[in-house]
Amino acid sequence: MATIGLFYGTQTGNTKIIAEKIQGAFAGTAVVQLHDIAAADPTDFEAYDNLIIGCPTWNLGELQADWDGFYDELDNIDFGGKRVAYSGAGDQVGYADNFGDAIGILEAKISERGGVTVGYWPTTNYEFRESQALRGEQFVGLLIDEENQSDLTDQRIQQWVTQLKKEFGL
Ligand SMILES: Cc1cc2nc3c(=O)[nH]c(=O)nc-3n(C[C@H](O)[C@H](O)[C@H](O)COP(=O)(O)O)c2cc1C
Repeated sequence: MATIGLFYGTQTGNTKIIAEKIQGAFAGTAVVQLHDIAAADPTDFEAYDNLIIGCPTWNLGELQADWDGFYDELDNIDFGGKRVAYSGAGDQVGYADNFGDAIGILEAKISERGGVTVGYWPTTNYEFRESQALRGEQFVGLLIDEENQSDLTDQRIQQWVTQLKKEFGL
């Protein structure tokens, strides 16, 4: 049984690739089980104490379509006692006023339902104007920008997973 459930949604594939890279950095399927939110059921979350939520931002600060469709189901999940990390894809140049908003929207809901947020990430080396993913000076999770900083993606994932291994207590 995997110890981490990674639930992702994607429109053009980037977040799936990021999810697979995160899974690889944790050493594979024995540790991280991937779930496409388009096919997920609320009961799928029950199996895990550690969760990673992967959601890109679309349409000026909105959730990716499958996450948008699942959003109301979050009210049927008890996140009490679960550690939850967030990773999102976004475009800090094209959408500088809404950079990575989606993970901020999901974190607000899931922490209201009892989830304990881990995996905060520094804003160093990003340039944007506004983001709902901000919590104080930090992002609520890992933001990946394939449009403008794809050269940093692998290194960011490795660093974040190293951090998460400690925060998940693995
Ligand atoms: C029409 C459109 C709207 C977008 N809106 C946003 C946005 O509001 N904020 C943001 O950070 N990125 C935005 N993006 C960038 C996507 O989040 C980015 O391309 C991401 O890598 C897509 O991930 P996916 O392939 O997993 O769907 C938008 C892209 C498009 C084409």
